[in-house]
Amino acid sequence: MPLPPEELVRPEILALEAYHVADSAGMVKLDAMENPYLLPEALRRGLAAALARVELNRYPDPGGAELRELLARKMQVPAGMELLLGNGSDDLIQVVTLTLARPGAVMMYPAPTFVMYGMNAILSGMRAVPVPTRADFSLDRDAFLAAMARDRPALVFIAYPNNPTGVLYGEDDVLAILRAAEGVVVLDEAYHVFARKSFMPRLAEFPNLVVLRTVSKLGLAGIRLGYLAAAPRWVEQFNKVRQAYNVNVLTQAAARFVLERLEVLEAQAARIREDRARLGAELAALPGVTVFPSEANFFMIRVADADRTYEALRRQGVLVRNLNGPALPGCLRVTVGTPEENRILLTALREAL
Ligand SMILES: Cc1ncc(COP(=O)(O)O)c(C=O)c1O
Repeated sequence: MPLPPEELVRPEILALEAYHVADSAGMVKLDAMENPYLLPEALRRGLAAALARVELNRYPDPGGAELRELLARKMQVPAGMELLLGNGSDDLIQVVTLTLARPGAVMMYPAPTFVMYGMNAILSGMRAVPVPTRADFSLDRDAFLAAMARDRPALVFIAYPNNPTGVLYGEDDVLAILRAAEGVVVLDEAYHVFARKSFMPRLAEFPNLVVLRTVSKLGLAGIRLGYLAAAPRWVEQFNKVRQAYNVNVLTQAAARFVLERLEVLEAQAARIREDRARLGAELAALPGVTVFPSEANFFMIRVADADRTYEALRRQGVLVRNLNGPALPGCLRVTVGTPEENRILLTALREAL
């Protein structure tokens, strides 16, 4: 007799919930830290022509050599380091985790943070050890170093800046972790264009440092492209775990076309950084709203009743992320949008409060 999923599926998978994405049709979409700007019209026409030349009948270049070369140049990857491409940085988080998931191995990260680290620990059978941040969501260096000494993690994830808090941890705190680490330390720099701080130039100083990036927040979330930079001896191992054709031909071609014109996306990021300052001040001026300082393209805010505020915003056509729960009571996360979107958010929030 065929057995039901409850008797066949791994118990830790049965206990999981699939990653939830709220329906955003017709909404002002401020829930996923996307760049709100499209590419300029002329660029889009050029891109269409470039994509029309792609041979869809052929498998992709498995390593994406041309795209790696371009990324190395545009993103100032230090000489001697290697790149690995992923289907978004989510893919690479999984690749690194699977590579290091020896039986009993520990994954450690400051918490709260990006949910995919813990999720991948579960999927791979690693033991996740979240180390709470301080009340202001800064890194608790002493607690983290003590936890590292105790549990000797094979893998540490640090989102720099952090999602969902927006906090950029102190450089000295991160350095202390890098110096203490026996295992691999992944600095997840998904929001680096907004923080303009990076450990990329320091890769050679720390043999087990991996710098993880994505083009998603830069304005290319739809094409799904992440990359990591690390010493060749690590990339060699990660490369065995990666699916051979994990970055498709259209993504490789689109990325090559747009990243050759990176200044367009960088100008959009500069615009978002300016609007972040204005939005942060305006949110902080609302009665009953606490705004946490952010070096990313979003703010975490705290309100008296997050569930009610979230629903009231939704009814007014504004989608944000509800973080309310034991780790982040009363918290919502809002992406910095266009000036018009930010204005709509502020108006709706005033109404909702
Ligand atoms: C810290 C962090 N890392 C990685 C990702 C995943 O990005 P990608 O779109 O490249 O999979 C996100 C997305 O929100 C993130 O916040």
